[in-house]
Amino acid sequence: MKLVTLPIVLGIALVAAECPYHQWKAPEPSDFRGPCPMLNTLANHGFLPRDGRNITKETTVNALASALHFNTSLGTLMFEMAIVANPEPNATFFTLDQLNVHNVLEHDASLSRSDAFFGNNHIFNETIFEETKTYWTGPVLDANMLANGKIARQVNSKAFNPNYTFTTTMEQFSLGEVSAPIVAFGDLQAATVNRNLVEYFFENERFPAELGWSIRNATVSLDDITRLTQTISNATSLITTGEPVVSTRRRDLHAGLNL
Ligand code: HEM
Repeated sequence: MKLVTLPIVLGIALVAAECPYHQWKAPEPSDFRGPCPMLNTLANHGFLPRDGRNITKETTVNALASALHFNTSLGTLMFEMAIVANPEPNATFFTLDQLNVHNVLEHDASLSRSDAFFGNNHIFNETIFEETKTYWTGPVLDANMLANGKIARQVNSKAFNPNYTFTTTMEQFSLGEVSAPIVAFGDLQAATVNRNLVEYFFENERFPAELGWSIRNATVSLDDITRLTQTISNATSLITTGEPVVSTRRRDLHAGLNL
């Protein structure tokens, strides 16, 4: 190696070692993982314990702050919602596999996981994800595409899963999960996100840094999440607004009938 290139190589190696988005490692067989692609990703990058165990409030808040710029109150709230997964009274931590228990936090009609009735409810399932992606009809996902994928998965589950369960609480979680790709990788104001980043994230459980994504500068707050989930919720409506465009042929038909 030429002497002049050595500092450059060392510099790149140093940056790579310091940047946690590059410290991705696939889980070992003994590591716990769960149904949440983001928590799995955080563990794969070492923001959360790589073994998926002993996830405390402090660990959660720090991981969400350093990886995604979530403010402390949002991180705390997320931990408080998660802790019900640990069945121990007054638990102070949860593990990623505790999230797998069906109908506690894990629910039917996930975007990338099978319903518990049909098999494994927490490992990434390519067939299910293909079904969701059918509704992601452009290179930039908007609220309508994300909402359509969600509804389609629910209709499929409701039609074919005799145990289909989807309470109003699950609906709130589901809306949060469907807007999560925008929160992590997208434009919070426009409520859009590049499809390639989202696919890479789901399929690899890895931050899409190699596709050019980097952490947003702004801090993410509960207000952002509330606004986005409302936008997705509005987009789940199958009713259109505004005056329908009546085709000429139909108008003629009506005119004929009115004679
Ligand atoms: C303490 C924090 C969190 C907990 C306890 C948690 C837990 C969960 C659980 C239990 C599910 C499975 C729901 C289902 O059955 O479909 C889930 C799904 C999901 N989570 Fe998380 N999550 C957390 C934070 C996040 C964050 C910060 C993001 C991204 C910004 C995120 C993104 C997602 C997505 C996209 C799904 C949907 C997966 C699918 O439908 O296939 N989560 N999460």
